Amino acid sequence: MTVKHISVIGGGTMGNGIAHVAAQSGFSVTLIDISEEALSRAIATITKNLGRMVAKGKISDEDQANTLARITTSTSIEQGVKQADVVIEAVNENFELKKKIFQTVEASVSEHTILASNTSSISITKLAGVTKRPEKVIGMHFFNPVPIMKLVEIVNGLDTSKEVYDVIEQLSKDMGKIPVPVNDFPGFVSNRVLMPMINEAIFCVHEGVATPENVDEVMKLGMAHPMGPLRLADFIGLDVCLDILNVLYDGFKDPKYRPCPLLVKMVDAGKLGDKSGQGFYNYSKN
Ligand code: CAA
Repeated sequence: MTVKHISVIGGGTMGNGIAHVAAQSGFSVTLIDISEEALSRAIATITKNLGRMVAKGKISDEDQANTLARITTSTSIEQGVKQADVVIEAVNENFELKKKIFQTVEASVSEHTILASNTSSISITKLAGVTKRPEKVIGMHFFNPVPIMKLVEIVNGLDTSKEVYDVIEQLSKDMGKIPVPVNDFPGFVSNRVLMPMINEAIFCVHEGVATPENVDEVMKLGMAHPMGPLRLADFIGLDVCLDILNVLYDGFKDPKYRPCPLLVKMVDAGKLGDKSGQGFYNYSKN
């Protein structure tokens, strides 16, 4: 199967990054979101990120224009997925919402179409179970910022076929990424390893071992991490970190994944990191 057209559902941080990279790699892309405003914001972000690459001489003005010309937008899932060989869903981490989307998509696509999810924590097997084509459902887990991060964690559900895996592995390479296959277990590999580290960093602050700045300095200078774990937690979103830790805790029933009470308290207080302007650091304009 040759992939020509990709439909991306959700124009937020991950969705617009995926649409950007797919279009820049030569695929024709339909970006789908619920409103024209959301789509305009997504296209403005893609334009800004492409502009950053033009300014650095990494791509030409023509590349930018061609990339943008390969992206069409739609506020209708039914219309927007019609031509798709692969649909990549990148909406909020809400199972009921994803279930509804997968069922709507399935009713509108061709038989050969692969349904991929960028979920970072919801079971691919469970998502596949709401469709009549579990063998064609797979996880394509990208990392933020999508245009920069090389990894695609490809998540095989219990029934994902080898043929579908092979298509998605090739597609990831064609998008300039490095695919790594994993099986569907809570947190996959990325978040099963990352989130306990972030949680432990939060416990260090909670127990007064060190300030957020000093925890991050230790990990940046001592372990060569590009961002310390608390800066990274703010970047990912503290609500997202808490959701993923709860998925690990519920999935394994192992107390080692219990979310730090400080993380729970910060989320309750609406301190969600970059997106709310306050997390372990302050991001307000002042
Ligand atoms: N979109 C596109 N490009 C971006 C960007 C964005 N939002 N932010 C930064 N960049 C680009 C810059 O243009 C720059 O490009 P060049 O190398 O071509 O010049 C490059 O990224 C580096 O940017 P900066 O020099 O401004 O800043 P930096 O060196 O501090 O790097 C960073 C920024 C790439 C974000 C780096 O700090 C980093 O790698 N951090 C870790 C990110 C990470 O771990 N992401 C995974 C999060 S987990 C996740 O996404 C999934 C999940 O399931 C939770």
